[in-house]
Amino acid sequence: MAKSGDCWLNGEFIPLAQARVPVMDRGFLFGDGVYEVVPVYDRRPFCWARHILRLRRSLRETRIHYDPARLRAPAMRLIQAQPFARQMLYIHISRGAEEKRRHSFSGESVPTAFMAVWKMPPPDMRARKEGVACITAEDFRWLRGDIKCTSLLAAVLLSRQAEDCGAAEVVLFRNGFLTEGASTNVVVVSGGEARTPPADAKLLRGITAYDALRKAAKLARIPLRECEISRPEVAAAEEIWLCSSTREILPVTKLDGAKVGTGKPGKIHKKIRAALNKILAQK
Ligand code: PDD
Repeated sequence: MAKSGDCWLNGEFIPLAQARVPVMDRGFLFGDGVYEVVPVYDRRPFCWARHILRLRRSLRETRIHYDPARLRAPAMRLIQAQPFARQMLYIHISRGAEEKRRHSFSGESVPTAFMAVWKMPPPDMRARKEGVACITAEDFRWLRGDIKCTSLLAAVLLSRQAEDCGAAEVVLFRNGFLTEGASTNVVVVSGGEARTPPADAKLLRGITAYDALRKAAKLARIPLRECEISRPEVAAAEEIWLCSSTREILPVTKLDGAKVGTGKPGKIHKKIRAALNKILAQK
């Protein structure tokens, strides 16, 4: 039975503060693992099947043998056990521990599977109403951004760089083209059309931007297209939005100190926000 404050580690519910993994776990030594963050509204995980599909893909790409179908029942128990209804479910599967530290792996270790739920903070209404400031930087991460892996040092440093500048996120460019944020996808509105970069190996195919947003755009009749987006296009954008499971869709009103569009959240954002609210309210 899961209790409030419990996490789930390798098949058992235990208090989060008591959860331990061996130091030889490759997740600890190499960041050799994959993860998911699933938003939970009113105790219902949002887009569960999509998150599990992406996790399955990350596991396959990293050759970690674990069947994520095993996660649903304990995840639901964890969610039900918490006193709060708005949650963030964290799923983490590492390759597990091996006897020796070496870069390559035997393929015989038993993966470490961990899940925890945390309270998701209420939406930042001020940020939604007024928008947030972002900075830009060169995307120096590896070229497999499509894998949602726990080796996140580049994202950690970039996020801190944004925070040091009082910015909500860092918008990344590679060879002059938009990739994504350190922990978000970025949407650009130009000529009334919403655009996202192609979800190839350079970036993570976010469930918010590439699934929920598409549904919302259809509902709100907003044209949405996947295409390469250059730096000058971003600088001249009418609107920019950040998308992620925890931030949903957030308008960016300042980029590197310059106004985005009018400097206020745009008309299209208002429409997409209303459509997303409808989708989130669906039972
Ligand atoms: N981050 N791009 C990156 C690099 C991300 O880390 C995330 C999510 C996204 C958005 O994906 P989604 O819409 O599926 O949440 C895009 C999560 C929230 C995190 O690492 O905490």
